[in-house]
Amino acid sequence: MTIQRQSRQQHVVQPTKTPRDNDVFENTLRPKRISEYIGQSDIKGHLLVHMEAAKKRYEPLGHTLLHGPPGLGKTTLAHIIANEMGSQVRVTSGPAIEKPGDLASLLTNLELGDVLFIDEIHRLRPVIEEVLYSAMEDFALDLMIGKGPTARSMRLDLKPFTLVGATTKAGSISAPLRDRFVQNFRLNFYSEIEMEQIVERTSGILEITLEKDSAQRIAQSSRATPRIANRLVRAIRDFAQVNEEESVSIKRVCDTLNSLGVDNQGLDKTDRMILEAIIEKFGGGPVGLSTLSAATGEEEQTLEDMYEPYLMQQGFLKRTAKGRVATASAYELLGFQAPVDVQRGMF
Ligand code: ADE
Repeated sequence: MTIQRQSRQQHVVQPTKTPRDNDVFENTLRPKRISEYIGQSDIKGHLLVHMEAAKKRYEPLGHTLLHGPPGLGKTTLAHIIANEMGSQVRVTSGPAIEKPGDLASLLTNLELGDVLFIDEIHRLRPVIEEVLYSAMEDFALDLMIGKGPTARSMRLDLKPFTLVGATTKAGSISAPLRDRFVQNFRLNFYSEIEMEQIVERTSGILEITLEKDSAQRIAQSSRATPRIANRLVRAIRDFAQVNEEESVSIKRVCDTLNSLGVDNQGLDKTDRMILEAIIEKFGGGPVGLSTLSAATGEEEQTLEDMYEPYLMQQGFLKRTAKGRVATASAYELLGFQAPVDVQRGMF
């Protein structure tokens, strides 16, 4: 990223922070063009049409909302949109924008056609959302000058831009904000074949040779999530390198996954601890989120965003009106005998 200003905006625009090791790693592996992006074919198909149409009209792409579990590629898509449209991306997040002035300064610094990426957009404060409405709708900033009876409003024109919002919680976005997005895409978990292709792509970039079956085994343990696949490939590379192996055997993969506590369905120690808690401490459920959080020591948000989506997708957990319930598959996974009502799928 090229934003290097010394202003207060540093705190709002994340690329000016010292990047964390994981961020650098992820950025290296991020596909830059849509043709390199594996999976999510419906979204890619729609985006290609909308981007081509926008280019033909010499307009920026319409504002786009991306939602879905973490690690599936929302940030990557925002960067790809900017690359494909020949523009810059500015990255920020809902919690980083503290005051309306923070957003105003971001918006007034955008160039024509820029992509403004707001991660965790559901966490924007209402007063900041208000500023965003006219910016999205009319490419204008409505500012209040002064206070009290002499206060007056002033309208400032902005250069047309594309807002890309990302959220793990589509349901937490207010209706007025949601309605101002032209496109609304849900990212889904990846298939095993797509995951295998992603593992192979990552290994190629990192110059790792995978022996037969290794890519498939890593793909199976990656919770259908590219970010996790990439981290596993990285960990396996370290183990192989330390052991002075030139290529990664299936044994090396299995040993590394075992030592990380990751099974061949991608479940880790925390996933199993969550299911165990529901079964052993709460008779299989239903148990409320806050109770489960207290029992497992994991934050509610972490449970909801990081763990539950995959456990539900794999059929180990259900959310009911009364709380979380372990399924018959969860009992079987952990070697417990499921009660009859669970076996019959009554929950
Ligand atoms: N790396 C992370 N996500 C990816 C994707 N969807 N396609 C290719 N490489 C990726």
